Amino acid sequence: MKTKILEKFKTLYGEGAACYASPGRVNLIGEHTDYNMGFVMPGAIDKAIYVAIKPNGGTISHVYSVDYDEAVDLDFTGEKPAQQWACYVFGVVKEMEERGAKVPAFDMTFGGDVPLGAGLSSSAALESAVGFALNDTFNLGFTREELAKIGQMTEHHYIGVRCGIMDQFASLFGEKGKIVRLDCRSLEYKLEPFNPEAAGCKVVLFDTQVKHTLASSEYNVRRAQCEAGVAVVAKHVPGVESLRDVTMEMLDQYKDEMDEVVYRRCSFVINENQRLLDGCAALEQGDYVTFGQKVYGSHEGLSKWYEVSCKELDFLVDIARKNPGVLGARMMGGGFGGCTINIVKAEAYDAYVAEITEKFEKEFGRKPRVIEVVISQGAHKIE
Ligand code: GLA
Repeated sequence: MKTKILEKFKTLYGEGAACYASPGRVNLIGEHTDYNMGFVMPGAIDKAIYVAIKPNGGTISHVYSVDYDEAVDLDFTGEKPAQQWACYVFGVVKEMEERGAKVPAFDMTFGGDVPLGAGLSSSAALESAVGFALNDTFNLGFTREELAKIGQMTEHHYIGVRCGIMDQFASLFGEKGKIVRLDCRSLEYKLEPFNPEAAGCKVVLFDTQVKHTLASSEYNVRRAQCEAGVAVVAKHVPGVESLRDVTMEMLDQYKDEMDEVVYRRCSFVINENQRLLDGCAALEQGDYVTFGQKVYGSHEGLSKWYEVSCKELDFLVDIARKNPGVLGARMMGGGFGGCTINIVKAEAYDAYVAEITEKFEKEFGRKPRVIEVVISQGAHKIE
């Protein structure tokens, strides 16, 4: 992929480009908790967006997307571009300028192998790759944390998704073989070794190939529902600013003052945070069985209480539950499509993949994509 991006750059804009990569992510547990100031456990993966870049000395930037086979000219003093893919690049530059940076014009080609719309955060990978590349090329002096926020705000202001910080943070801070255990309120994080093989397990994703687009989806609605729940509790309990500050007792106490749906959404988030903490404690003991139970619990909550699953995802998790070789499975990411993440005993792995493939195909008339991931390095320059 890297070679392809560089070759395209050479054809379009000439020699001398520098190359950068920033990866997609998986998340072990803790879904829809990031924008509620809770905890998440993502890791960067071995699939990334690659960016080739060179300053062009002019006033207009030229950007080419290999995946869309399309070029745009970007003028950052003008309106945002019509193509959504170009809005990511445009938004990152504008957010940098918003923070006082002067970003000179550049030529850029980009593309990658993070499947689009599969819940692996291809868009965060793009924002992080572009941000990281510009920061390094023009010595802008942003920290990785600032770059994560720049990516997140690009989503908010230029794409229309009020996402949390998890995806960009994982893409920028991830390390090989390590999970990023992140507190989304303080942004304190710990890189924890994640080595399922040592416990005789494997992690695999099944992509339903149902594409989600969060911008037009229910994602922002979920966020607003959580905020509505917080507002009710905050009227009574001083210091409550997010669901992180709300306990199930508080929620139950003021249940009558909120919409039933709001109550269900908020209880999911509070329980999901607790599942993450319990799951994390289990993982520290190498107890993948208990961890797997939490993963199943997460799916149940996402499907029934938060209602962000879909029939294909539920179908996959139902098969997992009946297979004693599978320790845990759940939908991953924003929802409404994309992948399930599965923790499987190594000895049961091959048969399980075959079972899933066969049953899914019988039900939906197509095979799910099987994606093996390796937890890998976050944003970096490619020498
Ligand atoms: C998407 C968002 C993240 C996070 C997840 C759900 O990936 O971009 O910020 O909210 O959904 O956990």
